[in-house]
Amino acid sequence: MGDLRIAVVEDDEALSRTGADLVADAIARHPTAAVVPATGNTPMGLYAELAGRRRAGTLDVGRVTAVQLDEYLGLDAGDRRSLFGWMHRSFLDPLGIEGEHVVRLPTDGDLEEACVSFDRELLARGGIDLAILGLGSNGHLGFNEPPAEANVPTRAVDLSPMTVEANGRYWGDVADVPTRAVTLGLGPLLSARAIVLVVSGLGKRAIVHRLLEGPVGPSVPASFLQTAEGDVTVVVDRSAWGNR
Ligand code: PGA
Repeated sequence: MGDLRIAVVEDDEALSRTGADLVADAIARHPTAAVVPATGNTPMGLYAELAGRRRAGTLDVGRVTAVQLDEYLGLDAGDRRSLFGWMHRSFLDPLGIEGEHVVRLPTDGDLEEACVSFDRELLARGGIDLAILGLGSNGHLGFNEPPAEANVPTRAVDLSPMTVEANGRYWGDVADVPTRAVTLGLGPLLSARAIVLVVSGLGKRAIVHRLLEGPVGPSVPASFLQTAEGDVTVVVDRSAWGNR
């Protein structure tokens, strides 16, 4: 089991800077790292901070590979809701990561078979070095919705009503949120050598404390971070943390 550290920061700017420091350190130590960049609102400032450091010449991501965390199912190519599109705009493009340095999740064909191959190939290439994750208000990581066991593989899932509701804010309306998705499994995610979890806002206060202090189990998938193989850093802002 790795170490679990908590970094409490005052605001979004500090969260982005602290998160970017952790990511930049990991990449400096391991320039060919396989990195999982979550979409969602919380890591956006962190990615902008990384892009700024790259422009300034203090961060080299030329040999990094990005591995997709999750994607909705049933979308047409070019659909504005595609999470790959979001990952592209927020992470790949600003950091200049492209071509063979991008690993996408399968979204069509025999998904069960494709997900098994995906996990096999991910393992063969050395697994995940660094996962940058956000926290769902229901305790999900990626789209590993509760209940989810620690060893679940990459697979197609139904989104929980709470996630559909929460993700309405991305697309304007709850009715626009797809209800099926594919997600990296908790199994491969929790085997990452390092995980940076970014958590922000009052709405995450209950779940972040539940994940850190509550029992470890499938009803809060993120609670398995307490027993992850690699080092975990939870970067949490003051409004999510409270005045403890
Ligand atoms: P958020 O999403 O960063 O937009 O809050 C987190 C998540 O649902 O995993």
